[in-house]
Amino acid sequence: MGRNSSKIRQISNPVASCRRPRLARLRALAYAIAMSEIESLFVTRLYRANLNDTAPGVDAAEMETACLSIAEDDEAGQEWCEENGYPGYTSYASLSDLPWRFPIFADLVTALDAHVAAFAKDLEFDLGDGKLVLEDLWINILPEGGTHASHLHPHAVISGTTYVAMPDGAAALKLEDPRSSRMMAAPPRRKGARRALQSFVYLTPEPGEVLLWESWLRHEVPLNMTEAERISVSFNYKWV
Ligand SMILES: [Fe+2]
Repeated sequence: MGRNSSKIRQISNPVASCRRPRLARLRALAYAIAMSEIESLFVTRLYRANLNDTAPGVDAAEMETACLSIAEDDEAGQEWCEENGYPGYTSYASLSDLPWRFPIFADLVTALDAHVAAFAKDLEFDLGDGKLVLEDLWINILPEGGTHASHLHPHAVISGTTYVAMPDGAAALKLEDPRSSRMMAAPPRRKGARRALQSFVYLTPEPGEVLLWESWLRHEVPLNMTEAERISVSFNYKWV
């Protein structure tokens, strides 16, 4: 309150001096805003960058070709998607060694390591003698009508996605306020509320971009309304 103390002398007795109730309320509101100090706590950080900003060498066209080729050859992955109702293709359950099998994925991990390290610095993590290392890396291909329901990534610290093919109008990434489950009787936010106060945030990343977030952040991919495939590579980093 100290930094606003000079205002006490400038704005005095806002209600008592006014006999019109509505005007008095407005004056009281203006007085409260002028005198208050409001800060943001427990923030949710979102990292967004061009994949090749830190480690050039991941060719976008080559990555797309590799993803499509792997999807076509990965019969175990195709079966898993069929059995589990995954609307498209993911290598999540079938291929755990993409960086070992394909050099372009090894290059991708080199780039991601640098981005994750930068994000960890921003988050001011104290990793002690440990470090953040890649735990999982998998391909997602969502055709028209494909979607990925709301979820989070248990057991990981940092999760994220790099975007390989995002056709015009392809579904964005939707992030959810992590406090939603506690908002028993909270009113909704106003349309056009400040981005940091919105309950849901939509992002439309460009091919070649990488997004990182803390793994507890709930997210989903809304319905892909375009005819073209939406291709991305997602990953988890753990603390070891
Ligand atoms: Fe996810």
